[in-house]
Amino acid sequence: MGSSAASIPQAATQSSTPSGVHIKPRNRTHDISAALRGEWLDNDPFLTAFFNGMSIAFPVGEKFFIDSVRHYADRITDPELKENIKGFCGQEGFHRREHQHYNETLCAARGYNLEKLEGTLTRRLNWAQENLPPLTNLAVTVAIEHFTGVLAELLLSPGSIMDRVEPSMRALWRWHAAEEMEHKAVAFDVFRAVGGSEELRLGVMRRVSVLMSIELTRALFYILKQDGELFNFRLWRAGLAGLFGKHGAFNGGWAPYKAFYNHGFHPWQQDTRELLVQWAAEPQLSA
Ligand SMILES: [Fe+2]
Ligand SMILES: [Fe+2]
Repeated sequence: MGSSAASIPQAATQSSTPSGVHIKPRNRTHDISAALRGEWLDNDPFLTAFFNGMSIAFPVGEKFFIDSVRHYADRITDPELKENIKGFCGQEGFHRREHQHYNETLCAARGYNLEKLEGTLTRRLNWAQENLPPLTNLAVTVAIEHFTGVLAELLLSPGSIMDRVEPSMRALWRWHAAEEMEHKAVAFDVFRAVGGSEELRLGVMRRVSVLMSIELTRALFYILKQDGELFNFRLWRAGLAGLFGKHGAFNGGWAPYKAFYNHGFHPWQQDTRELLVQWAAEPQLSA
């Protein structure tokens, strides 16, 4: 425990993860090389490209998340939150490994340049680590963890786009989603425990939302260009509807995203425990 621990507000517990939720790293591997050669998401080149683009961002992002949370680990005194930090780092570590494998396999199979795809994001996050205060970087993690938490809820909900996904990819995305849901409050609790303000949380979220949209769009453009589909406007129209339309992948995501801007927001105000129970009851494909 550092001397700065005295300045940390002490509550009964600093962890707000519900008691029935265990942040358990599951060391799973996924045999996805055959699926990655094709349009694994509903046989749709646009939606497949969009989700592949998201995967590109995970390994470099997850390293950043781990670093920004670990930076404060020895300032946390609450045993429950300390345990949750360990679970968080373990889970993100396995996600990082599996998505690195995903990305390398994808790029080899389809002729994409991984360095080009992830280069800008890597440079942005390296710049942030070198130039921004650690608390701001933790706020960046809190903001992106909110995105992954909301996405997890969408992907684990009945009738989600995951019902139209090749089985090995479905297993990987839903494993990742379940663990994101389990640890959705960890970075948030650390941020709060070390004195992160509402002002910083909201200000960073606004910027992160813009930057993430730019990064995901950049990856999507690159992939569609490589696939020879960049100017296929019919594909774009159907694909955007497939993401944001009435039955789209992100339908239902706006309200939980916006909840972040409420004063006093907390990730578990959205009680998603039932989705975890349902996921755990499913037969698990991966090793
Ligand atoms: Fe993750
Ligand atoms: Fe996460």
